[in-house]
Amino acid sequence: IRDDPTAVGDYIANYIAKRINDFAPTPEKPFVLGLPTGSSPIPTYKALIKLVQDGKLSFKHVVTFNMDEYVGLPRDHPESYHTFMFREFFSHIDIPPTSVHLLDGTVKDLVGECEAYEASIRAAGGIELFLGGIGEDGHIAFNEPGSSLASRTRIKTLAYDTILANARFFNNDIAAVPRMALTVGVGTVLDAREVVVVVTGQRKSLALSRAIEDGVNHLWTLSALQLHPWALIVVDEDATAEL
Ligand code: GLP
Repeated sequence: IRDDPTAVGDYIANYIAKRINDFAPTPEKPFVLGLPTGSSPIPTYKALIKLVQDGKLSFKHVVTFNMDEYVGLPRDHPESYHTFMFREFFSHIDIPPTSVHLLDGTVKDLVGECEAYEASIRAAGGIELFLGGIGEDGHIAFNEPGSSLASRTRIKTLAYDTILANARFFNNDIAAVPRMALTVGVGTVLDAREVVVVVTGQRKSLALSRAIEDGVNHLWTLSALQLHPWALIVVDEDATAEL
């Protein structure tokens, strides 16, 4: 628990930097990092960018896989997760563009896209550290309530609550929010050797308490982390309101 979102972001950025530096990645053995979108990880991205600018961290031998992407939104749409990641993070660090992996929600064969994504995660040697965020309904990536805890990368219909929550990014126009997304599964997240989740703000407090104080259940998919041997949830004071 840290005081506020900035302190949470600083903590996670330093934590990830230490993991990458201790790992000492090389071209033959890169560090494989899973990444989220959303407003919660922005302070982490800002702090990571500062570490790169200060010469304390490099992404030259880091390979990334993002958690999710909307279906049907052109990649250059201002609210696609592809655009978000380059705007908020990748354009400001020294990562080779070929090391970045994002699901493509514009292709015809969405099932094939999901299978190929799982295959490229496997080919990269699996994810070393998966950083995640959660929705107000406790979803990790876009694993909405009711998702199988063994799920893999797939197409997911968004819950109405998620569409409402994300309308703020589409000029509050609910009709403009995509209805479907591609997302890594809960099983994909659990396969990472380590999972770090950022939860900030009072509106996430119910999800946080359900996920860590209730049992493992598919309605609050973050709760699956209770099954993981190496998981860390970093939260601010506001997010602890219901604990
Ligand atoms: C979307 C993403 C999630 C993310 C969530 C939280 O639903 N698919 O991966 O965790 O937004 O967003 P925010 O951090 O803006 O609350």
